[in-house]
Amino acid sequence: MNMDALIVGAGFSGSVIARLLAENTKQKIIVIDSRDHIGGNCYDYVNKFGIRISKYGAHLFHTTRQDVWNFISAFGSWEPWEHRVLAKIYPRDDSDDFAYAPVPICIQTIQKLYDSSVQNEEGMRRWLVEETRSIKFQAPYKNSMESAVARFGHRIYNDFFHSYTLKQWDKSPEHLDASVLERIPLRYNMDDRYFTDPIQMLPSCGYTGVFQELLNHPQIEVRLNTDYFQERHCFNGVNFTVFTGPIDGYFASRGLDRLEYRSLRFEEDTIEMGDKDTVMQPASVVNEPSMRVPYTRTVEFKQFLNQRSTHTTLVREYSSSHGDPYYPVPNERNTKLYATYQQLAEKETEKERRTVLFLGRLANYKYLNMDQAIGNALDHWQRWIKDGVIETHDVN
Ligand code: FDA
Repeated sequence: MNMDALIVGAGFSGSVIARLLAENTKQKIIVIDSRDHIGGNCYDYVNKFGIRISKYGAHLFHTTRQDVWNFISAFGSWEPWEHRVLAKIYPRDDSDDFAYAPVPICIQTIQKLYDSSVQNEEGMRRWLVEETRSIKFQAPYKNSMESAVARFGHRIYNDFFHSYTLKQWDKSPEHLDASVLERIPLRYNMDDRYFTDPIQMLPSCGYTGVFQELLNHPQIEVRLNTDYFQERHCFNGVNFTVFTGPIDGYFASRGLDRLEYRSLRFEEDTIEMGDKDTVMQPASVVNEPSMRVPYTRTVEFKQFLNQRSTHTTLVREYSSSHGDPYYPVPNERNTKLYATYQQLAEKETEKERRTVLFLGRLANYKYLNMDQAIGNALDHWQRWIKDGVIETHDVN
């Protein structure tokens, strides 16, 4: 087969490396993906009602890294978009009354649900001191329930985190490492944006448009519906492989246990609205922390970039332990098991004449935001050049 490099996976990790190889070397590159589309989990499409849907859940680009933005903004056109999320809260168990409140928790959340007199940072700090006064838990916390209750108090914990975590991880916060809920942001100001990064954008023609441009290069060939494990014999002659699929899949023949993931099931519902600007929800994403519904959030895709359609499509997300691997499960078992896979990967990386490199969220068993996946690929590229993994005589 006439090729120099094989990239397994057409998500951001694989596609960025393919583009860098194409632009900086004379290599012929094949990008394969087992799915029938490019873009990995960022893939999106326009449905028959003219609404752009992200097949694998809402994707909002945000970053603090200027180099990542400089690189990716050259592909497709992008528009500023500040994401806001509301949670649907039922303050009383014995009533169906509910209120929408911003997440992450900020002054507006407190005003909406608990105390309208909180107006500024000082007031917010005072309110939280009162709210947590009787809490006895102290750092280092034993689990996520302790870490969240100590920071937010029982009311916020019960309204926002207890059931939501249970639905998302199928585990009560008492049984999750303290670090899981420790990462939840808490704001002492009025900022109700979901992200605070200085760069927050959405691609005007969708992520798929960005990937089409990334992979549009005469040295790159893309083959879809091509599973590496089934077709790897076709690529025996390739000396340079970048693998962005699941690391435990790559080493499946070694008989180790598999890594655990949480997955999502998506349920779609399209409703005729008549008016092109009318929407169903008060925000593009509504979190559902209550046990009254089995799903974790509802996404109304029409709201992203204010799309216009006579219909609206709502997608409900159900957390699941079956299906495509999405979120690594952070616990001791998986950390240890991944370390064993990592050792196998290091040995595999430099075989006699073959180089196999492992990159991306599945190969590194780590949740990565899009900018982190892109940044990781850019950083690895620099390191490979420095270490001579990419042969310098190949570089233009
Ligand atoms: P990705 O999974 O995208 O690509 C890997 C590719 O490899 C896949 O296409 C897969 O089919 C292919 N593959 C696997 N095994 C193979 C095999 N054996 N043979 C051939 N191909 C194979 N980030 C963010 O910044 N903002 C956001 O709002 C969100 N939202 C979000 C929602 C949800 C529900 C999830 C799960 C994730 C996000 N993300 C996100 C994270 C984002 O999806 C993530 O950063 C990128 O998908 C990572 O790109 P990768 O290329 O590493 O993996």
